[in-house]
Amino acid sequence: MNLISSDDLSKEQILEIFSIADSIKEGKEELTLKEHAVQALLFQKPSTRTRVSFEAAIAQLGGNSVYIDAQSSQLKRGETFADTARMLSSYCDFIVARLYSHNDILELASNSSIPVINGLTDLEHPTQALVDVYTMRWARKNLKNLKLVFAGDIAANTANSLMLTAVKLGMEVALLGPKGYLPESFYFTKSREYGKIDTYDDIKEALEDADIVYTDTFISMGQEADAEKRKKLFAPYQVNTKMLEYAKPDVQVMHCLPAHRGEEITSEVLDGPKSIVWEQAKNKMLLAKAVLLFLSKE
Ligand code: CP
Ligand code: NVA
Repeated sequence: MNLISSDDLSKEQILEIFSIADSIKEGKEELTLKEHAVQALLFQKPSTRTRVSFEAAIAQLGGNSVYIDAQSSQLKRGETFADTARMLSSYCDFIVARLYSHNDILELASNSSIPVINGLTDLEHPTQALVDVYTMRWARKNLKNLKLVFAGDIAANTANSLMLTAVKLGMEVALLGPKGYLPESFYFTKSREYGKIDTYDDIKEALEDADIVYTDTFISMGQEADAEKRKKLFAPYQVNTKMLEYAKPDVQVMHCLPAHRGEEITSEVLDGPKSIVWEQAKNKMLLAKAVLLFLSKE
């Protein structure tokens, strides 16, 4: 089994991954990886958290990693993702790939005989969504009917994966962004099939009864050419103290990181008492382990 899209996982499978993570946290996990398992990390874009958390996760589970910077591999000279997948499948046990194009990871996965894990593409960030919802459950205990507001770039890869994962677990999702700026229709429509989700451009309306406010950069990797335009477009949706006044008094704030302080979020909020961002970031290694263990037994 691969983890390419958040839609690859049913509600039951998400809960199973969470339960593996819980067991690891409690020191009770009985699953193990095969001895000396090797994970290939094929990355076209920068990463701190995803790369290091997967490398540390497999090391602590007794395996190893090979980091392949796409720029210094034969991909740079035009070798296809299909051929790359065939090779990596004969050397390694997992591939974690961070690619620009979602179609490229689909090509990689369909030519691979080992599990492929999406470490972020232009359309999705499924392992991040698992981290996010696991952290929400830690923070609020019960996910059912919890209201999550995603503020800012509601068409971001993180938004796409998070909306699918959150509604599957019974949460209500409010996507808050500029009038006329729409979420990715596939993810929005699909999420609607699973639960309650809507779009808003009015901050007060979206934040009413909000339990969690989540944001991500206004300029995702690959969108640098439109940086100035995007900063202006999303600026009114910055997560700041004033915005949070419209939410529940015990609202909590999340961000996948890296944060652009003063753009999508203020330092006051990021470092303030409502922020659970550092617990969220810490959970990346736990969920990386849980995902590796889950996929190795599928
Ligand atoms: N949140 C996240 O994926 O961070 P990195 O880009 O540092 O991996
Ligand atoms: N949306 C961001 C997420 C970074 C982890 C990006 O794609 O750059």
